[in-house]
Amino acid sequence: MDTADRVLQWLAGRARAAVSGEEIARALGVSRNSVWKAMGRLRERGFVIEGRPREGYRLVSCPDVPWPEQVAAGLETRLLGRVEYVPEVGSTNELARERGRLGAPEGSVVVADRQTRGRGRRGRTWHSPAGLGLWFSVLLRPDIPPRETSLLALLSAAAVREAVSRAAGVEVLIKWPNDVVAKDGRKLCGILVELDAELDRVRHCVVGIGINVNHSASDFPPEVAPQATSVRLVAGQPVARVPLLQRILEGLEERYITALSQGFGPVLDEVRRHSATVGRPVTVAEADGSTWDGLALDIRGDGALMVRPAGGGRDRAVYAADVSIRSLEGR
Ligand code: BTN
Repeated sequence: MDTADRVLQWLAGRARAAVSGEEIARALGVSRNSVWKAMGRLRERGFVIEGRPREGYRLVSCPDVPWPEQVAAGLETRLLGRVEYVPEVGSTNELARERGRLGAPEGSVVVADRQTRGRGRRGRTWHSPAGLGLWFSVLLRPDIPPRETSLLALLSAAAVREAVSRAAGVEVLIKWPNDVVAKDGRKLCGILVELDAELDRVRHCVVGIGINVNHSASDFPPEVAPQATSVRLVAGQPVARVPLLQRILEGLEERYITALSQGFGPVLDEVRRHSATVGRPVTVAEADGSTWDGLALDIRGDGALMVRPAGGGRDRAVYAADVSIRSLEGR
């Protein structure tokens, strides 16, 4: 940690009370001149620090950037808290997988301000511009069979749904298998779970979460604009990214710990209660390009979506397909 970060930590720990340069210098074992220089660097990074001749320095406000020290302040987690921030990266999932292969501990989080090769499901790209969204990946090492890891996408969607609904003051929903959508069906979050596993053992698993937070309608590229929305558009006002990330990490950890000790039953109940998919007419697009219509009946214990085909025949378990909701989308 450089002097500026140490000074920031010191100021933040003072609950925004004024503290003299001399006191900071003494506490950190540096000169008053380096404290003064650190204040300059912090102000350049967007921190508002009041400096008064006889009272000292006071931290007035912090920029809304998910720097590790910002995320750590007030984060109530035991497992998910080792945050690495990069201003720009190809994909946070790629970086987290690399960290995982090199032995990074469970709960490590990689967050980027911008991704240049953000990845979505089925080889799609994920538009990840700077300053507007939350693009992050969480490294997990669950002791569960590889086939159960798809449930982690639903579990993460449940955590995002709750945190976004609270931040926006408007209810949002989970769209099977890995999205969070507004009530009109427009997508505001996508989740990509990637696995490093042997046949019967998970080495590690990366949960990549992309949330459109403060996008205006014109910030989306034309090809996704009709189906996309953001937390800001849903809330009707800008939403701070750092507290949103903190609440998601807390919610994800709570559900993850419960799932490891009690199974995925409780979180699946939550997903069913807040599902945009269950009970709706859907179109299922298979990986080979074929499509069929049906009615989404339920989400099974293994995470599969049970669909009753419109053309008759037995109910089908859908594991990996694109499912669009006919009564929500294309309105
Ligand atoms: C989808 O809906 O297709 C999944 C999108 C997942 C996007 C996130 S952004 C953070 C993480 N890094 C990536 O490259 N992808 C995921």
